[in-house]
Amino acid sequence: MKKLIGPFSQILTMENLSLSGSLSDDQLKIITNGGVIIEGEKIIKTGHFNDLRKEVSDIIEISSSKVLLPGFIDSHTHICYSGDRSSEFSKRNSGIPYQKILEEGGGIHNTMKATAEATDDELINSTLSRLDRHFSEGVTTCEIKSGYGSTIENELRLLRIINKIKKIHHSDVIPTCLAAHVKPMDFESNEVYLDSIINDVIPHLRKENLSNRIDIFTEEKAFSVDESTRYLNKLSKMFDITVHANQFSSGAVKVGVDVGARSVDHLEIINDEEIEYLSRSDTSGVILPGCSIGLGLPFAPIRKLLDNNCKISIATDWNPGSAPMGDLLTQCSMLSSFEKLSSAEIFSSITFRAAYSLGLSDRGKISPGMIADFITFDSSDYREILYNQGKMKPSLKCKRGKIYN
Ligand code: NIG
Ligand code: FE
Repeated sequence: MKKLIGPFSQILTMENLSLSGSLSDDQLKIITNGGVIIEGEKIIKTGHFNDLRKEVSDIIEISSSKVLLPGFIDSHTHICYSGDRSSEFSKRNSGIPYQKILEEGGGIHNTMKATAEATDDELINSTLSRLDRHFSEGVTTCEIKSGYGSTIENELRLLRIINKIKKIHHSDVIPTCLAAHVKPMDFESNEVYLDSIINDVIPHLRKENLSNRIDIFTEEKAFSVDESTRYLNKLSKMFDITVHANQFSSGAVKVGVDVGARSVDHLEIINDEEIEYLSRSDTSGVILPGCSIGLGLPFAPIRKLLDNNCKISIATDWNPGSAPMGDLLTQCSMLSSFEKLSSAEIFSSITFRAAYSLGLSDRGKISPGMIADFITFDSSDYREILYNQGKMKPSLKCKRGKIYN
């Protein structure tokens, strides 16, 4: 049964925009007084509301001014965890670096401990409530990484929980196996731990259909460039790859590009050679402003990456350590002011460019054939959204053709 929704003051279709490089707002295709025809989970047609209403009798009429955008896609989160790390926030602000806290058995290890102590129900409920909040802030597709398992069994438990959540929640959840986050305390070496993942976690990913995505934290205090390369080379033919790359030091961008990774995420420390290498590849760079805000470190040079024709998306990195805020729009708004980004660049990077970084081609645009995932803001001018610094929240949310207020 076809349904027409509208009229919308502006529909930002996000059509006809390139996957890479900089964008200006005058490249945005905007339909004014627009409507969208949906059927089931899909978008059938867009156009001027008054033209479309001649074709469809079932109409959901919108009374106030609204801007319509594709639902946001958060391609990098760690929201399946328990506990909080507020004491580390204080420590860092007294001058102790994130890496030092990690090296001394805190940081990610603290979350591993708290997560191991939580029951399945506690983990499911806290993750679901984070997803609910995300959905209310416009995120209709959310990637969730494992990575806080203190043992192989606990890591598998998190992957199973993420998959349970995927079945329960109306958002689309994309599970990623980040067993290679940091070596849990009980393993004698990185090599032994990575071998255990290969032998005891990876077979379950296929057998139980837990994930088709592999991530690794490539960094001095986690896994070296050589360890990461060996690990990913064993997996890159069977799985989609993404890498925590260049957060504190250079090197991992090349690792990711060379294994054909879908994305290399973080990029706070990236040199000109690496930018050039990334721009010549099909790999997407994912910028995580929430992590820079959380750690009080400079943003990744997204302006420069776009000007050098890289494929770039933006995600929250929502996690209890470096990025506890998890508010994608607020982070995007801050990043746009500091890095001088257009609305076209920001909205692309959390819609169709983010879909690309996850290997998804069925969402991120308001376009015929796409999944009917879209959100509205109560305004007649899309520029007000980022201008309001995250204070303007979506009003309607439509997920796979179903409307939520
Ligand atoms: O992307 N850098 C590694 N992993 C996460 C942080 C995880 C944590 O601190 O709990 C990140 O920032
Ligand atoms: Fe992360």
